[in-house]
Amino acid sequence: MEKYKKIGILTRDCAGINATIRAVVRSAYTFGFETIGIVRGYKGLIENDTVKLTPRSVSGIINHGGTILKTARSSRFRMADGQKEALNTLKANNIDALVVIGGNGSLSGAYTLSSKYAVPVVGIPATIDNDINGVSMSIGADTSVNVALDALDKIRDTATSLERIFVVEVMGRDCGYIGLRVALAGGCEEAILPERKFDIKKIAREIKDGSAKGKITWIIIVSEGKAKAVDIAKKINKITNLETREVVLGHIQRGGRPTAYDRMLAARYGFHAVELLTKRRTGRCVTLRDNKPSDIPLSRAIKKKDMEVNDYYKLIKLLT
Ligand code: F6P
Repeated sequence: MEKYKKIGILTRDCAGINATIRAVVRSAYTFGFETIGIVRGYKGLIENDTVKLTPRSVSGIINHGGTILKTARSSRFRMADGQKEALNTLKANNIDALVVIGGNGSLSGAYTLSSKYAVPVVGIPATIDNDINGVSMSIGADTSVNVALDALDKIRDTATSLERIFVVEVMGRDCGYIGLRVALAGGCEEAILPERKFDIKKIAREIKDGSAKGKITWIIIVSEGKAKAVDIAKKINKITNLETREVVLGHIQRGGRPTAYDRMLAARYGFHAVELLTKRRTGRCVTLRDNKPSDIPLSRAIKKKDMEVNDYYKLIKLLT
């Protein structure tokens, strides 16, 4: 069985991706592979935009958010002609196998390359939404929850001092991963999530009942994919007549210094991805099983993940 010689690395963006690039590059070199970075994701793969990566060129990035490789969306990669150009880039650079680091979109692209064109690919899950099927923890998710929690703690200072209601919008397009965790860890009164129906009148009634008993400070978390903080705040104010402010945390949640957890996950996933390539075990996505690095088929990873939110939600309400 002939060994791969050169591995390409392509990324999306969130905290911990630089630590993952470092882990892949340095693991690859210990196994005798060369590494090359694809600049700007699938757009760069189509446009043959690459950069040589060596163990030295990934020095000093473990603690930096974002991606040194930059990233971009590519509508052309969804079409067959774009995919053919991507294959040309792999050929022109003698890339034998790809490591794709990112969320749903990136891993779906990886699956296309692997299933349609037999490109040897291994995926590493990295998304603040933590919504990769069959993967309990994606790189970047822990950092985003901690960034949002840090901001929330600051908002709570004012909420408590002025006895105000705050509606805080967190990221999460189709998934309440950040919202649910931040609401529980931040001691919030309510979480409005994509996975649950909500009744604004019921929430307003609870606030009114609470205020009659002297509880006026409320913090309500809203996942951006479910509702807009400004709309929820307006409705609550209209029904309760209590001062209600909205805050949108936005993209601060995708950046920042990766937590220790994300850096360790990056090291473990990065090494495991390279190990898979040494065995030519491709079309896989790395994950944890019983807290040990493991892997599942990419075809499974790109399916919709069912998020269980009820246990945490019950605790949020019980501890209010
Ligand atoms: O998929 C990760 C994510 O950060 C979502 O939580 C968010 O809804 C979306 O990306 C935002 O995308 P963009 O940065 O393109 O606005």
